[in-house]
Amino acid sequence: MTDNAVGPPPLTLLGLGAMGTALAKTWLDAGHPLTVWNRTPGRAEPLAAAGAAVAGTAAEAVAANELTVVCLLDDASVGAALDGADLAGRDLVNLTTSTPAEARARAGWAKERGARFLDGGIMAVPPMIGVPEAGGYVFYSGDGALFEARRETLAAPAGTVFVGEDAGLAALHDVALLSAMTGMFAGMAHAFALLRKEDVRPTAFAPLLSGWLTAMAGSAGQAAEQLESGDYTRGVVSNLEMQVAGSATLLRTAEEQGVSAELLTPYLALMRRRLAEGHGDEDTTGVVELLLRP
Ligand SMILES: NC(=O)c1ccc[n+]([C@@H]2O[C@H](COP(=O)([O-])OP(=O)(O)OC[C@H]3O[C@@H](n4cnc5c(N)ncnc54)[C@H](OP(=O)(O)O)[C@@H]3O)[C@@H](O)[C@H]2O)c1
Repeated sequence: MTDNAVGPPPLTLLGLGAMGTALAKTWLDAGHPLTVWNRTPGRAEPLAAAGAAVAGTAAEAVAANELTVVCLLDDASVGAALDGADLAGRDLVNLTTSTPAEARARAGWAKERGARFLDGGIMAVPPMIGVPEAGGYVFYSGDGALFEARRETLAAPAGTVFVGEDAGLAALHDVALLSAMTGMFAGMAHAFALLRKEDVRPTAFAPLLSGWLTAMAGSAGQAAEQLESGDYTRGVVSNLEMQVAGSATLLRTAEEQGVSAELLTPYLALMRRRLAEGHGDEDTTGVVELLLRP
């Protein structure tokens, strides 16, 4: 322990899939003594050659260091891997993608076993890990004191954004961003489909598409202000009535181009419903109200 007292602190990592392996490399490169464990032992061999200690069981790996980071497939695999490990007095950071409810339950489970707990949601793919200019980061939530104490170690692979003491918040932020991204991918698929049969090269169109989406992404700030004030008419530029009328052109163009409108219609149906309820002077933000189930 004395040898490490002045250097980067040691830690344990459970899980050497694509993401776990990328994380392991950055901690080793940053000089952290690292103990690793993986269910399939062969995946640890390249890391052992790079200086990692390889534990025979997850329980041995957890026992090796005060801090354990877990990056496994899903919450069930976390439970399976840590079954039987002594977590008393340990710091547990779970970077496995979970739902908010799973993260909250895992936080309670860790607390019952005497561990401090942080949940993390990784906003990066493996090639972005250890590459600060790639812009990847990890949402953290849970024990704020643990986050402060381990901040430097956690910052080695990617940026860190702490979003609150409620352990479910990191997963919630993660999934909210991924859900928004899914809608964006749907929109891009529809746009490319419209042009597919025409003499327009996708590579010529792509910069126009990404430029427009980037410009429109700024509207998130206005929507947020409207949601906080409860006034969806605040600062409206293109009101709902106009947008619903304009959407008829979107549908007719899809028809003309022989493209299914199935990616557009669910959202347009919500806009029409909100309009029918008498909110034509609002922004489209009011659609959020229709999505909330009682
Ligand atoms: N890859 C990405 O782009 C990315 C991005 C953001 C977040 N994440 C998240 O990071 C986590 C890991 O992803 P990954 O890409 O590394 O996945 P992966 O390459 O599929 O690796 C999965 C890991 O989980 C282990 N595992 C699966 N079931 C297990 C069980 N029942 N008991 C013990 N270990 C088990 C696997 O062990 P074996 O080697 O023995 O199969 C392996 O170490 C996931 O939650 C993922 O959502 C990934």
